[in-house]
Amino acid sequence: MEAEMSLYSEKVMDHFRHPRNVGVIENADGVGEVGNAKCGDIMKMYIKVENGILTDVKFETFGCGSAIASSSMATEMIKGKPLSEALELTNRAVTEALGGLPAYKLHCSVLAEQAVQAAVLDYYKRNNIPYDESQFKCALCAHEHDHPEGEEE
Ligand code: FES
Repeated sequence: MEAEMSLYSEKVMDHFRHPRNVGVIENADGVGEVGNAKCGDIMKMYIKVENGILTDVKFETFGCGSAIASSSMATEMIKGKPLSEALELTNRAVTEALGGLPAYKLHCSVLAEQAVQAAVLDYYKRNNIPYDESQFKCALCAHEHDHPEGEEE
């Protein structure tokens, strides 16, 4: 509500100030770490899986406020959900749930999408579960991208 914060929705500010599910899961079933080479921010996602359900999710984000808010929101959106649903989480859905992000901050929400996918991919690999690479496009994508609205590539 402060004037200088007007670029950000109340939800973004709330999740930035009081991030949910922060921390480390000891003995996690999957861990995903992703980073944005341009800004240097890093996000780490830990998951616990039982019978295909994400029973617990925690994150550590060394990054900007939008990245922290995005990861916090992402954990809330996938906790208790099947892995298949977690894989469908897009940065756009996270951004919408946050009430929007400024355009130049959309790439921060991409970290959340990538981190979730990376954690699930790690879980699949550890357990030798066959997976369809097309489901992990974002986590397996090696190039830097911002996923702006209407991205063509
Ligand atoms: Fe790096 Fe937001 S500026 S993730």
